[in-house]
Amino acid sequence: MGRNAALGTVLNKRILLIIGGGIAAYKSLFLIRVLAKRGIASRVIITRGGTEFVTPLSAGALSGDNVYSDLWDLTDEAEMGHIELSRSADLVVVAPATADIMAKAAHGIANDLATTTLLATDKRVLYAPAMNVRMWEAAATQRNIETLKKDGALFIGPDAGAMACGEFGEGRMAEPEEIADAIEAALRGVTTLDGLKGPKPLNGKSALVTAGPTREPIDPVRYLSNHSSGKQGYAIAGALADLGADVTLISGPVSIRPPANVNLVKIETAVEMLAACKAALPSDVFVSVAAVADWRPAECGAKKIKKNGDSPAPLILEENPDILKTLSTAENRPSLVVGFAAETNDVIKHATAKRLRKTCDWIVANDVSGDVMGGDHNKMILVTEDGADEWPRLSKQDSAKRLAAKIAEHFA
Ligand code: CTP
Repeated sequence: MGRNAALGTVLNKRILLIIGGGIAAYKSLFLIRVLAKRGIASRVIITRGGTEFVTPLSAGALSGDNVYSDLWDLTDEAEMGHIELSRSADLVVVAPATADIMAKAAHGIANDLATTTLLATDKRVLYAPAMNVRMWEAAATQRNIETLKKDGALFIGPDAGAMACGEFGEGRMAEPEEIADAIEAALRGVTTLDGLKGPKPLNGKSALVTAGPTREPIDPVRYLSNHSSGKQGYAIAGALADLGADVTLISGPVSIRPPANVNLVKIETAVEMLAACKAALPSDVFVSVAAVADWRPAECGAKKIKKNGDSPAPLILEENPDILKTLSTAENRPSLVVGFAAETNDVIKHATAKRLRKTCDWIVANDVSGDVMGGDHNKMILVTEDGADEWPRLSKQDSAKRLAAKIAEHFA
């Protein structure tokens, strides 16, 4: 039984499959077939190196479509230009993704059809790396992968095992079924494979999550804000959605990609965030992760404030609404309200007091004196009426999963 049957729906989507130059290229031919069975069509680009391992003829026969390989082929360009090609799919998949193609993509080098397409695409890119273990472990490759991940790319594999080159280790391309699962997860808008395969205990529940900083204008070109990256809030929104919740993510200005499976509402100021939150109610759960600016300039004129030789006029600030407190005391209060406490000292003491002051059910406290703001890790302390539960230092994704699981447990 195919996964579609298991999920009850057939996908009617198309991927752009870039086949790089590696011995694993033959597996990509299987991938085309596996995807077709799941209702996912493939349009194929083969790099010059790729054609040393599989032929455009086989890829074309299996995909039932033209196969593209040369940027300077006028017939190809007339039929479908590289820009159009890069937009003609719901997802771009690079399999096998060689060290070379990832290095080029990480640095924006575009010197053939595949890399030009990767630079021009407005779609998400999923890489299935395949290479010798030493090349995989090389600092340069790992650096490039980090860069691509920061740019929003997805990865599947590589697996560990015996390699065609006779060595043993990590670097073997994931199996076609596994890559197809990752493709399906991305196309179905779940952020992780857990989201595709895992249980959905939050089905039927709605969740409201705020994230990122707010920006409070001083004049048309200046503002007050803070260092919040939005990473933790975005990860929590994605993790709740992966568990089946219908998530509205209300976000201040950040430079990261939102999870594909949430309703994103972008705002700038605290006042706008409050209005968006009120409009999103009722909701079963509210997770207030945003680093809302506590104050805003009392006035913001239509014109840029100019220097006039004297010391500048003092900035008069007024307090912003407390969004968490407003929602936790609202008539249509979400049944579970989770606040965050960013503290630099006496973390548990301050968080415990904050939980009561803000009338929320739980407070997630974290010590922001280190690298939490803007970093990729977090060490959370969950403060509830039962006391404080200290969690280990985890990636923000894993912290988010743990909190989402806790929320699901609460509703179970
Ligand atoms: N919060 C909010 N609206 C505000 C300020 C904070 O919704 N205007 C929320 C945050 O999203 C977080 C919680 O309140 O969930 C606590 O934020 P924090 O900055 O730690 O606390 P403050 O309320 O600013 O209190 P203090 O500055 O005294 O620590």
